[in-house]
Amino acid sequence: METSLRRCGRSHCPPGAVPPECLLRQTRLQAVRATLLIPLVARAHGARCYPWLDCLDADAAHLLSCLQSDAETLLQDRLVVLNVLWRTHVLKAWGREFFARHPHAAGVNLGCGLSNHFQWFDNGHNRWLDADLPEVLALREQLLPGQGEHRHNAGIDLSGDGWWDALELDRWAAGAPLWLLCEGVLMYLPPERVRALLREFAQRAPPDSVLVLDAMSHRAIGQSRWSASVGPTGAEFRWGLQHGGELLQAHPRLRQAGMRSVSECYGAAGAAFEALCLPWTGAPLYAMHALRV
Ligand SMILES: C[S@@+](CC[C@H](N)C(=O)[O-])C[C@H]1O[C@@H](n2cnc3c(N)ncnc32)[C@H](O)[C@@H]1O
Repeated sequence: METSLRRCGRSHCPPGAVPPECLLRQTRLQAVRATLLIPLVARAHGARCYPWLDCLDADAAHLLSCLQSDAETLLQDRLVVLNVLWRTHVLKAWGREFFARHPHAAGVNLGCGLSNHFQWFDNGHNRWLDADLPEVLALREQLLPGQGEHRHNAGIDLSGDGWWDALELDRWAAGAPLWLLCEGVLMYLPPERVRALLREFAQRAPPDSVLVLDAMSHRAIGQSRWSASVGPTGAEFRWGLQHGGELLQAHPRLRQAGMRSVSECYGAAGAAFEALCLPWTGAPLYAMHALRV
């Protein structure tokens, strides 16, 4: 999928990000990088399909307007739009709970794409780090430039070890717990990389730190072609849960701090269907998990 970025010059663009008149910068995002458009479209316009799940993202629609990209096609993947809006509600609730307990703690969004989740957690005392692959970061810096240490952008490749040190997360934590988010990312990594990432979090994070992530059932592995939004990007699902306890097995320091399945959006019928399928799926088809050390 090819995306062209247009600096649109609207007056309320982030300071320093946008020159006064339209300036086009061509960028090419391939495969998994291009998937960042999917949640962006959902947060920008998904409330048209699911008004009760409107996440009230103050930036997504404008960011999308800077990208010459077909939002309508992505919006037609209703299942994914629902998943993104629902997970945004879950992570907002979990994040607010965390920052209420730790108002001076820092938040880190691993594989942030073009999201600006700090809009929901900024309490004037905390700080936020958005990290993604260098190509995405170049795009992000134009649209959502960092604001010093208050909201900072960093390039990182999570497919290798050492991301904790590369992002200088000991310095960001300064001994206090961290709140880390990794949404819409891990399913694109090989299983051994996901386990390594969980281990690195477990080994390095200060006590009471939380990692929030989303996970699909392992039955989704290799099936991205059936997804109207992910399929055309060429990205493939490579990791999914075999069973409910798998995340905790990555390291003895990990504890479950929360788990919610998207089946809750479908009421009692959703819960019954999920229970019926569980022997085959091994884990919920799509769920949010919070891990604490
Ligand atoms: C589906 S998008 C999700 C973006 C964002 N989390 C959101 O919900 O809007 C997947 C993101 O993961 C990032 N990503 C994929 N592989 C990565 C890696 N190895 N290291 C860092 N980021 C990665 C992509 O660049 C992309 O921005």
